[in-house]
Amino acid sequence: MSDTTKPLFGTADASYQAAGELAGIRRLVTDFYQIMDAWSGAAKIRAMHKADLSESADKLTCFLSGWLGGPRLYQERYGSISIPAFHAQWPIDAQARDAWLGCMQQAIERQPYSDEFKTYLLAQLSVPAHRVVQASQARQQAAQ
Ligand code: HEM
Repeated sequence: MSDTTKPLFGTADASYQAAGELAGIRRLVTDFYQIMDAWSGAAKIRAMHKADLSESADKLTCFLSGWLGGPRLYQERYGSISIPAFHAQWPIDAQARDAWLGCMQQAIERQPYSDEFKTYLLAQLSVPAHRVVQASQARQQAAQ
């Protein structure tokens, strides 16, 4: 496929395809939570989660499916969600965001994705991750 006909990530379901569809996203999310569970750099954010990570893994897989342009499984199974508003219940600062993105970076590195898609995916995920911090910090300030 030449560069001119290659679908751009972010258009239609190009990102969903590049991530390996649902099975590929599930592998990414499984690795993500395994890393969060084991990596000392993520201990603080691991402690915010329930002991059993399987429900979180299923929900994040469903969310990313729709977010990457595939089937909107989160909405179908769990209803609508605002990622920043949902996360405002936890005190999430820049350090927590970087730990979350650090888990993602390591998980993405384990996938058989092209370097181009790896870079794109991490950059895209950093957008909602920043918004999570803003919403969380705003909630903390309002509560003071
Ligand atoms: C910025 C750092 C982030 C932290 C510290 C964080 C932390 C958490 C925590 C503590 C939970 C609840 C887990 C549980 O119930 O045991 C959660 C759930 C979830 N997170 Fe995050 N998160 C972050 C960023 C993100 C981002 C950027 C996304 C989306 C791209 C995301 C998507 C989700 C989803 C879909 C759920 C499940 C929601 C549900 O329970 O219905 N998170 N996250």
